[in-house]
Amino acid sequence: MLVEKNVPLQPYNSFHIVAKAFSLVRIGCVNDLLDVLADPVLAPQPKFILGGGSNIVLTGDVKPLVLKIEVKGRRLLQETDKAWLVEAGAGENWHELVAWTLGQGYPGLENLAMIPGTVGASPVQNIGAYGIELQDRFHSLDVVDLATGTTHTLDAAQCGFGYRDSVFKHAAPEGDAVPAGNGPVAAAGFGLRDRVVITHVRFLLPKPWKPVLGYADLERKMQETGITAPDAQQVFDWVCAIRRAKLPDPEQMGNAGSFFKNPTVTREQCDDIIQREPRIVHYPMDNGSIKLAAGWLIDACGWKGKSVGNAAVYERQALVLVNRGQATGGEVMTLAGAIQTSVYERFGIMLEPEPVVV
Ligand code: EPU
Repeated sequence: MLVEKNVPLQPYNSFHIVAKAFSLVRIGCVNDLLDVLADPVLAPQPKFILGGGSNIVLTGDVKPLVLKIEVKGRRLLQETDKAWLVEAGAGENWHELVAWTLGQGYPGLENLAMIPGTVGASPVQNIGAYGIELQDRFHSLDVVDLATGTTHTLDAAQCGFGYRDSVFKHAAPEGDAVPAGNGPVAAAGFGLRDRVVITHVRFLLPKPWKPVLGYADLERKMQETGITAPDAQQVFDWVCAIRRAKLPDPEQMGNAGSFFKNPTVTREQCDDIIQREPRIVHYPMDNGSIKLAAGWLIDACGWKGKSVGNAAVYERQALVLVNRGQATGGEVMTLAGAIQTSVYERFGIMLEPEPVVV
């Protein structure tokens, strides 16, 4: 096992923030992880799990031992007349998995094309776009418990999925051990952040395939092209085009996708805001609450194009913060804080950041 020292993390975070890991171990398979856990020096150290680095803001050098997840592999596990069951290693690139499944003839992930990051990170924040969330196509995943080295398989209920949320984003209460077996892991509110490593994820892609086209941007594509019954490849191409037009490519301009979650409010709160701000973009949810477009709120406060140092609000989508050069994590967080304050002062809503601040 190789422990790399003082490893630059700039290539491993999509914001391209300059920081280093004091120690880093690459995890290519479950056994690499077990080697770390069997090592008397490494085992007791605090650990930080790094996937594609597309949902983190680094505010300094990383002192915990960085486990860089590079578990590879993609395969069809099973095909029935109801679904394809596909498995991928946590270190696979997400977009390449989506493209591979389509190429193999297993449609169902096309609305989630071009989301930066790895397969292992996809359940952590329950990625979603254009009418589909990961949980809609999720079957199960495997984790290794960092405290015991044991492997567990978790189903959707045990992952505790919510909007851009899961059990993997939350820290366990102080002093709580991860319980043995699968059952108690599912307990509501049980946090698994930094306590387990996701090694493999399985996706259930239902048959017959049906396109998900309810999202306004996709409806617009249908109108523009006159194609009313697109195949999965067509939907994939549309989603890629929509994202390219609206979102910066992290290769060219560092960013972590949407920086804030879209907030939800009650019908009464929404009516109150509409009286003052009739143009506010809002969507009724199935549970009766109303989701507000955070991008619109930020845009309405005049933030598009504004910056703090080299951290800036993207000109074409106010929900995305970008690194215009050598932005520090501190600059990104100062900008984020200023946006939160101004949105709160005008609308009475506190925006919640989506990425994990390290
Ligand atoms: N809007 C503005 N100004 C802006 C940005 C948005 O007025 O600067 C308005 C738009 O006109 C639109 C509404 O806000 O009416 C919603 O914007 P958009 O369709 O771009 O979607 P979003 O709610 O901002 C969410 C996800 C994205 C996902 C898209 C498409 C969150 C936090 N973000 O963005 O996910 O790609 O929908 O489904 O839920 C991500 O999580 O990193 C991400 C990119």
